Amino acid sequence: MEIIIQPDARAAASMAARFFTQTIRRQPSAVLGLATGSTPLPLYRELVQKRLDWSSITTFNLDEYLGIGADHPQSYHCFMQENLFRHVNIDQGNIHIPDGLAENPEEHCGQFERGIQTAGGIDLQLLGIGSDGHIGFNEPSSSLASRTRIKTLTERTRLDNARFFGGAGLVPRHVITMGIGTILDSRKVVLLATGDHKADAVAGAVEGPVSAMNPASALQLHPHAVFCLDSAAASKLARVDYYNWVFQNKPSWQRLDED
Ligand code: PGA
Repeated sequence: MEIIIQPDARAAASMAARFFTQTIRRQPSAVLGLATGSTPLPLYRELVQKRLDWSSITTFNLDEYLGIGADHPQSYHCFMQENLFRHVNIDQGNIHIPDGLAENPEEHCGQFERGIQTAGGIDLQLLGIGSDGHIGFNEPSSSLASRTRIKTLTERTRLDNARFFGGAGLVPRHVITMGIGTILDSRKVVLLATGDHKADAVAGAVEGPVSAMNPASALQLHPHAVFCLDSAAASKLARVDYYNWVFQNKPSWQRLDED
């Protein structure tokens, strides 16, 4: 794993954005995996400002609440349109987000998985991390081999997301989420985490054992996983000096393109 620690949230998001910019510029038909939540907002703002060519890019989002439609203001469909898609020249037909109102959700999950395969697999997947270590909506105890399916949210996640819905009781209980196995199949993964409320989850994911109790720890099994952190999210890591040294001493062929 590559651990990149930046002084603040904005710099961490900028660093994560550079991976996406580089992929979109070098691989105009790339398949991107995208995430929602508060953390990626500055990253999406930066990608919009760069005026990249999204015309041949395909996207798959990690998850969606079950039981709410694409026009619900808290749906991830709305989030993505509002914060990214309506600002770039993406072909709306190339956007894939699980349908929270699918008539047969289980069948829909299988179709979503097949859609990723038909598109050639995900080249670069963006992830956030929950304060309980979830990635996508794979809560603790999720199978590390799981595929896209329906999951039940923990009370902690519902509380974390209450701010969007105006109360924890209004947060849906069920979701459709890519599985951990689905995420591990991506060719490269960039996890962005900022703030001290993520520090325990990040420390468990990076330096703890691989365990279903911290789903992000499964990324230790991924050959190309990058954690972009601010110093608050990195504050409980034991080996910060080493991660910083590695980043500063990268061979030139491993470095990101300059902007
Ligand atoms: P957040 O969500 O960015 O809103 O903290 C992250 C997540 O739950 O994956």
